[in-house]
Order: sequence, then structure tokens, then C-alpha cells
Amino acid sequence: MNSFKVKSQFGDYLVEFKSFKDDLTLKGIPVIDKNVWELYKENSVFKTLNDPIIIEINEENKSLKSIEKLSRKLIQKGANKESHLLAIGGGITQELVSFLASIFYRGIKWSFIPTTLLSQVDSCLGGKNSINIDGFKNMLGTFYPPRKITIINDFFKSLEQSHLDSGYFEMLKIHLLSGKEEFDKFKSLSLEEKIYNSLILKKKIVEQDEKDKKERWKLNLGHTVGHALEASSQSSLPHGIAVGFGMLWELEISKGLKLIKDEDYSVIKNQILDRVSKIEIPNYDHEKFKQALLKDKKNSEGNINFILFKSIGEVTLKSIPPEEISEVLSFIS
Ligand SMILES: NC(=O)c1ccc[n+]([C@@H]2O[C@H](COP(=O)([O-])OP(=O)(O)OC[C@H]3O[C@@H](n4cnc5c(N)ncnc54)[C@H](O)[C@@H]3O)[C@@H](O)[C@H]2O)c1
Repeated sequence: MNSFKVKSQFGDYLVEFKSFKDDLTLKGIPVIDKNVWELYKENSVFKTLNDPIIIEINEENKSLKSIEKLSRKLIQKGANKESHLLAIGGGITQELVSFLASIFYRGIKWSFIPTTLLSQVDSCLGGKNSINIDGFKNMLGTFYPPRKITIINDFFKSLEQSHLDSGYFEMLKIHLLSGKEEFDKFKSLSLEEKIYNSLILKKKIVEQDEKDKKERWKLNLGHTVGHALEASSQSSLPHGIAVGFGMLWELEISKGLKLIKDEDYSVIKNQILDRVSKIEIPNYDHEKFKQALLKDKKNSEGNINFILFKSIGEVTLKSIPPEEISEVLSFIS
């Protein structure tokens, strides 16, 4: 796989592809997911790491409290404005290190080695970070891309099936959004090709709209329903699986509102079901689900904003007034 650069207002950054066999010299103050550290501390890829900061990963720890704790550790280590952080882990490690790097001394450099499929195919690219507050997901955040992203597929060997599914739906999402040709070829690509292609397709969108003012809104496909599902199932679902169900249910809403042709509906549904049907339907609280939709951060002027399907590769933003939400939800069954 060829490395490539992503254009950014914060400075262009590199995405490179490596393997455990490569001789890597890892630079920077390492901040590592505890599970990844336990699994790989003896691996040769980590041999050049120096006194890493180990963090426990769960949604509750994606918090200001963790940012405070990490800041103290950096100060103890003598970090200064020339310091460079190296995040190793999945999306949660990324969010914490990116947010911290953006405010420590008003901004220090950081690099990222994503270790989950979701973080390799989606979250690593685009420079967004966010942390939770008082149970509200992704409320505080900044745009702050790393200097370098190093993709090492070998990390997947230890991932649970649910985290492989989670990454799969983000890959499917970006191919669905990128037109019929990309969607049609998705099935026949190898996992490595799917990963590479997903990054190239996301790069095209974020380079046009890094600060999420125009084109980038499309990437929230599956997220209005997905975030509500996460909020109403106490975050027991990996993010990408919530997005998978989110896309499926938003497809049903698109059909119910007669936005999509029957033929495209069936093709998209079959492709999502290909994976979703093997996963247990999440157990969620229906009232909490509805309340979460009413509080979604993409809402505007009191309406709930859904990204709905028009055809393969074409989506539209639909604002639903709160009094119509029960009718819309009746299409999901
Ligand atoms: N900033 C963005 O653009 C963006 C985009 C999508 C998702 N996210 C966020 O990312 C988070 C989810 O991230 P995620 O799904 O990458 O995972 P994660 O960071 O939540 O990690 C999931 C689990 O996998 C473990 N793990 C990590 N790598 C492993 C490996 N190689 N082998 C075995 N276990 C491993 C972790 O310890 C953890 O238990 C959510 O908080 C979501 O909101 C951010």
C-alpha cells in the first residue's frame, strides 16, 4: 500500500502502512491503551518505546477528568511545548490524546498508531476529537490532526469479532456515500484494499471540508439513529455497530418517507443485512432512544436532522419536527 498525504489547514499529514516485520523507531511520549500494552508489550514493534503512559479504555474515561490526569503525568515527565505525543490504541485513545495535544501549551504535536479496525479505516483521518461530559457523548472537542498516522494491520489479530464488525460498517458507509461504482466494488475487495480505499475516499471529503461546514455532513450517515442507540443502550455497543443499525433504520425511514427507489432500497438493505443479520439486535430503552434523538447535537431550530438515502451514493438532510418523530419511528420495526 502506498503512503499518502492528507491536506490540512493545520499542516499536511502523512498516512503510512507498516507491519510488525518493519523496523520502526517510535518517537514521542507514548500514551497507550492498557489492553494493547498488555497484549503487545513484548512485540518487537514496541521495543523502542520509552516509559509509556498507560490508559484504561472505556467511554466513561473519555472525560475531562482523564485529560486532567494525563496533563499531570505529562508535567511530571517534564513535557514542554516542543514535546510530541504518540497515541497507540483505538478511537478513545485517539480522542484523548488529540484533545490533550490541542490544548497542552496551546498545542503540541502528536502522532497516531491506530490499533482497532474502526480507528484505522475512519476515525484516524479528519482531525476531529471529542470527549464526553455528564453522559452526553462527544460534547467537547477540537479539530487537531496528528503529524503522522501509521497503519499496522497486524493489530487486528487480537480484536474481538464485535470490533471487526464495528470497523466493517464504517468502511461500508464511506463506500455507500461514494457512488455506485465504489459501492459495487466494495464486496470484492480484500480487507487490506477495503481499508486503503476507505481512507482514500474519506480523505477526498475531509480535504474539501475539514471543519465540517459543507460536504463532510454526509459522513454522519447512520449517526443520528446510531448515537441514539448508543445513548439508550448504555454504550454497550461498539460505535460502528451502532452506525450499522443506524444506516439500516435510516434506510427504512427513507423508504417510509418515499425518498428512495425500491430497487436501490433492496440493494443497500441486502448489503447492510449481509453483516447486520449475524449480530444480535441491541437491547435498548425505547423512551431513552427517542429522548436522545430529540437532543442530538446535529439538530437545528428544534427539528431532528436525519441523513437519509435517495439512491446509492446520494443522501439528503431531512429535518423532522418533534411532533412527527413518532410517525417516523413507526417505519423502524
Ligand atoms: N474522532 C473521530 O473522528 C471518531 C470517529 C469515529 C469514532 N470515534 C470514537 O471512537 C471511539 C471508539 O473507538 P474504537 O472503536 O476504535 O475502539 P476503542 O478505543 O473504544 O477500543 C475498543 C476496545 O478494543 C480494545 N483494543 C484496542 N485495540 C485492540 C487490539 N488491537 N486488540 C485487542 N483489543 C484492542 C480497547 O482496549 C477497548 O477495550 C468512540 O468513542 C467513538 O465516539 C471518533
